[in-house]
Amino acid sequence: MRTTLKLISPLIVSVVVVSLLFAGYQVRTERRVLRNDLSRRDEILGESLQENVEPQFDRPLPDKSLQRLVDRFGQREHLKCVAVYNANGVALAVTSGLASLFQIRPAAAALAAERDTGFGEFLSVNNTPVHVYALPLHSNDQVVGTLALVHDATYIDQQVAHTLRDSLVNALVQTLLVTLLALILVRWTLTGPLARTAKWLRTLRTGQSHAPPSLPQGEVFDQLHHEVTHLARDLNAARATAEEEARLRDTNDSLWTAERLRVSLSSKLQNKPLFVIANREPYMHVRGIGNNGNVQVIVPASGLVTALEPVLLATEGTWIAHGAGSADRETVDAKDHLRVPPDHPKYTLRRVWLSAEEEKGYYEGFANEGIWPLCHIAHTRPIFRPEDWVAYQEVNRRFADAAIEEMESTESPIVLVQDYHFALLPRMIKEARPDARVAIFWHTPWPNPEVFGICPWGRELIDGLLGADLVGFHIQSHCNNFLSTVDRAVEALTEWDRFSVNRQGHVTRVRPFPISVALQENGQPARTMAEESAALCNELGISATVLGVGVDRVDYTKGILERFRGIELFFELYPSYQRRFTFVQLGAPSRTKIERYQTLLDQVASETERINARFQAGHWKPIVFLKRHHSHEEIARFYHAASLCMVTSLHDGMNLVAKEFVASRGDNRGVLILSTFAGAALELTDSLLVNPYDVQQLAGAIHRALNMPVEEQAARMQRMRDSVREHNVYRWAASLLSDLTEIRIDAPERAESAEPLTR
Ligand code: G6P
Repeated sequence: MRTTLKLISPLIVSVVVVSLLFAGYQVRTERRVLRNDLSRRDEILGESLQENVEPQFDRPLPDKSLQRLVDRFGQREHLKCVAVYNANGVALAVTSGLASLFQIRPAAAALAAERDTGFGEFLSVNNTPVHVYALPLHSNDQVVGTLALVHDATYIDQQVAHTLRDSLVNALVQTLLVTLLALILVRWTLTGPLARTAKWLRTLRTGQSHAPPSLPQGEVFDQLHHEVTHLARDLNAARATAEEEARLRDTNDSLWTAERLRVSLSSKLQNKPLFVIANREPYMHVRGIGNNGNVQVIVPASGLVTALEPVLLATEGTWIAHGAGSADRETVDAKDHLRVPPDHPKYTLRRVWLSAEEEKGYYEGFANEGIWPLCHIAHTRPIFRPEDWVAYQEVNRRFADAAIEEMESTESPIVLVQDYHFALLPRMIKEARPDARVAIFWHTPWPNPEVFGICPWGRELIDGLLGADLVGFHIQSHCNNFLSTVDRAVEALTEWDRFSVNRQGHVTRVRPFPISVALQENGQPARTMAEESAALCNELGISATVLGVGVDRVDYTKGILERFRGIELFFELYPSYQRRFTFVQLGAPSRTKIERYQTLLDQVASETERINARFQAGHWKPIVFLKRHHSHEEIARFYHAASLCMVTSLHDGMNLVAKEFVASRGDNRGVLILSTFAGAALELTDSLLVNPYDVQQLAGAIHRALNMPVEEQAARMQRMRDSVREHNVYRWAASLLSDLTEIRIDAPERAESAEPLTR
């Protein structure tokens, strides 16, 4: 309250001063107007009396008729006295009221006679305010006397006093009103939110709260909100880490944490930075997406980004990526560097620029129309164009040069190349820096040799990959396919017992490293599942009591259309769920310059419309398709609100959405429906495993999920959470990097392996 008063007291003082000045002005004006009015009335009255009195001077005076005349005039309201004087100032006739006082000619009358004109003045007579007005009287053009009118002016003072009182009351009421309004406004918009923030920070400090307070919108509050939310996140993360570490020490548990990874890697890497090369950048600066044309940072929808960010945060290092955002060039320094994450810079992002043609040939063409469908059994034919292959080679060279430049001052650098965009990179780097330890992690499945044989430049891709010391896949069967492919494609010794390939004396190990996410024990969320689901339905403008969720890039490998057909059949088979269950599909448009992806976006939208048109009623819809990029925070709300999550990939290396859903369900609720064709199916065996092509199985799984007893949900979710907790992304990075750092690179493994085998 004291702060509020301090803030508003200058306002109160100003209002009081202004009101008083205004009251004073009003009183002065009122007095002036009333006096002018009285003077004017006296002038008129005087002139009419003058006309009547002057003829009297033609007769000998004093005369009784003069006394009668002044007596008659003297009876008018407020007129206290009328007096007539001769030229010497001797009273000839005076009305009775103040007769004794006006026997002597007043000064005003003397002045009027002297100046030969009317003259008035305000005086106080016997403590009574009066107005005296005098006029000269003429006879034969000579001033022969004066006439004086004495008017009672008490009513002027009374009226002015009334006005003064009214003005003061007005000023008081105004001051009170303004004070009250200011109090409410300041409390509502300033001190209230600040007090709420302070209270929240206090509860946060004492470990009781997580949800930030709602603050009004506006520049200052937006900044405050941003900062305190980050502060809270940091504090919670630090607390969670400390608790986790303490728990692990207590139980001698061998869980991997960010901190443990940091400590382990700093000794393994001997404090050397880590170099990661991935096409997709972890932070993209874009202009003009609903932010008044301002630059906005977005985290792209990519499993690879989800997995690698915690590793970079734990190790320091450099992430080399394509600067694909429309405002990316505006945010880097002269060396194309940028420290990220933007809020808490921990590592360096080096952006590499590509022309539109390069992007078309390398990214859209060779990588995404060629290798992507080649590696996924999703029945989309790969397209291999010679010009795309040229672009792919050139861009791989460009990234290799950037990486070599970045690691110039690092001895025996550790390099982690990511994915199918850079199959040629390991060899390019190794040729320039034989001292480097190079691993490539392939985030998609690896096809069998027959399928891989479709690629006209398969040999070159394999040769590039075998430049690496370590090639990682998500699961063993991808490793097996890779070794079989190597066996067929190039001259090399494949050692199945050791899972390695020796090509011209260089040994490449091939290992599965199931990628994962970081499971944070955040305690109970602020809202229950039902509350969050009600809030989301409200925001989406739908009426439903149970929600399901799907989170995908809109990609034909994700089986979104198959999923929708499963949902359609579910509503056919179980009509009692109509008007109750809604499936929300968060679909991030992806690779939209490629026709196949455009067509798919249209198909998903029109399937949504078709199914909705069939069943929707009132405010209820079977499917809500949210076609846009969603932030982690937005997605987390849907995960938490959903009774089931559907991951129905036709083929997927791992699929981190499945693991993210499990990681987010600290309440042990919700059911995961998971495709057997996703790598994650090998670990998340407590999900409801489905064949995404089998529509009836999909419909049945939805029904089973919605009818699963809470205890069974909890038991399954707990087991899946245990698995994700243990096999988290830190463990993934630790095993990958520890395998890589343990490789000796100065000597060939076995003399006989140096001999190339001809097959
Ligand atoms: C998959 C790939 C990643 C890729 C991501 C998003 O997860 O393995 O390398 O980043 O999809 O695709 P995009 O083409 O947008 O990078």
